[in-house]
Amino acid sequence: CGIVGYVGGQSALDVVIAGLRRLEYRGYDSAGVAVLADGGLAAAKKAGKLVNLTKVLDERPLPDGNTGIGHTRWATHGGPTDANAHPHLDNAGRVSVVHNGIIENFAALRDELAERGHALHSETDTEVVSHLLAENFSSCGDLGEAMRQVCRRLEGAFTLVAVHADQPDTVVGARRNSPLVVGVGDGETFLASDVAAFIEHTRDAIELGQDQVVELSRDGVQVTDFHGAAAEVREYHVDWDASAAEKGGYDYFMLKEIAEQPKAVSDTLLGRIDGAGQLHLDEIRIPPRVLREADKVVIVACGTAYHAGMIAKYAIEHWTRVPCETELASEFRYRDPILDSRTLVIAISQSGETMDTLMALRHAREQGARVLAICNTNGSTIPRESDAVLYTHAGPEVAVASTKAFLTQLVACYLVALYLGQVRGTKWGDEIQSVIGQLARIGDEVEAVLDTMEPVRELARSLADRDTVLFLGRHVGFPVALEGALKLKELAYMHAEGFAAGELKHGPIALIEKGVPVVVVVPSPRGRSVLHDKIVSNIQEVRARGALTIVIAEEGDTVVEPYADHLVRVPVTPTLLQPLVATVPLQVFACELATARGNEVDQPRNLAKSVTVE
Ligand code: G6P
Repeated sequence: CGIVGYVGGQSALDVVIAGLRRLEYRGYDSAGVAVLADGGLAAAKKAGKLVNLTKVLDERPLPDGNTGIGHTRWATHGGPTDANAHPHLDNAGRVSVVHNGIIENFAALRDELAERGHALHSETDTEVVSHLLAENFSSCGDLGEAMRQVCRRLEGAFTLVAVHADQPDTVVGARRNSPLVVGVGDGETFLASDVAAFIEHTRDAIELGQDQVVELSRDGVQVTDFHGAAAEVREYHVDWDASAAEKGGYDYFMLKEIAEQPKAVSDTLLGRIDGAGQLHLDEIRIPPRVLREADKVVIVACGTAYHAGMIAKYAIEHWTRVPCETELASEFRYRDPILDSRTLVIAISQSGETMDTLMALRHAREQGARVLAICNTNGSTIPRESDAVLYTHAGPEVAVASTKAFLTQLVACYLVALYLGQVRGTKWGDEIQSVIGQLARIGDEVEAVLDTMEPVRELARSLADRDTVLFLGRHVGFPVALEGALKLKELAYMHAEGFAAGELKHGPIALIEKGVPVVVVVPSPRGRSVLHDKIVSNIQEVRARGALTIVIAEEGDTVVEPYADHLVRVPVTPTLLQPLVATVPLQVFACELATARGNEVDQPRNLAKSVTVE
């Protein structure tokens, strides 16, 4: 969910709505605002996207004031209805609360409140907080103190922001787990889940830590822990400006982010490979001795980041000869994995806030493992809780379906794999040196792919009425196939599945019938040519059964030509790096199919970019 709070001289409603617009990627099941005006509190909320709320506000304007809060929701407790939308008010309508996360003991608290005569109107856990805050405020008379008292009673993960009509010019926030950042302006202060919400007003930010309460006034902020002791905070300056979070002439953020990939991958490499081909990864502040002695690498991630992790496994095992497993973060800790101080865990997350990944990393650290985060969001929770972090520097990614974050995660994974290979010293020293050189030029190769995408878009449009698309790959092409299928599910709402091409004959081949599009990611015919031969056979197997074959193959690979109904060329790259170029046509394909089917490209149904619940 996305949260915004504001105190200052401007119209709170305008600032909050503009902030919510920038946070809509965090959820768009419903939206709501509350403002303090004329000694009272006015609120509005509506199911569906933010535009539904702004329509309501146009028809029935709220009195405007200078203090306000807002929320855009990804539904957890309670469906995406008007009643369940945030903010939630107390019975007297004096206190208003927005919330991100889940309050685990809400049922007990609700029963307790009902016994004391409170009437609750929604099915959400948040409403419980507004009633508790109202009660505590009436006894202590201060919203900050009331918030601390309430937080001490809550269990689970929560970030809360509240206002009270009896304490104007104040917004109070509390953070446990999901992010909350303060923006400090001139005579105005902001509070949001992400700096994007206030970047047009100020680039001076303060990151809140775990279990902290912040009180915002026009002139500044006060931060304490849940018991009222002053807390240490980290102030920082945001190094990108508002235009990075704008569409910049593109119809969708996703198109912009796909186009930004050559620069994004180059930015990930910046300063990390020098002119002499040496790696500089000083950020990996885990002592080389520990990296040398590690006897296992475990990668945890979700969604697209998990696919990056699957590819990393091939690279790490090949260049370091250390066993590496990649696991879905949501499965990891529940199966009691074997971890100790010699395990290196790599947590990959664009947002740095994904709860499944965060819980996996906490579990790993509890068992004594070292954790290295690969993350795109400065100061987010996952890097804060890790032993070291390698930032991907992709810039803000707004479209829900991940593109440039994925490519930069891959680059970061390769850097880590190559670095581990160097630190540990393997027989692949020469290969590592040559791959570093090729990685340094990869931005140009990605650009070359982007320059030739028109036939892919045309093909996508021609397939807009299909029900199913299948994806096949081998080796690192297998996770690429999974990522291609995920993009299509997310964006085009089509049945799409990725398979290891060798598994085809063990079941999935039964799905092939006349005309079914099958995208095949073909590895280079050079080097591991046995892989290439095998996949050429797989293409023939599906084609013989009527499939429409869409073949992604390296420049100069003539062997595949007779079997490809459509051929998409990608530049020659070392086998392990091929995902960096082979994924791009699949992103373009999914984006164009979604557009042709009339879907919302940046905000696919039911999804959120950052999922901060388990
Ligand atoms: C959500 C998004 C996915 C993303 C996943 C992991 O489900 O919709 O696109 O891959 O979270 O996100 P992270 O921020 O941890 O990379």
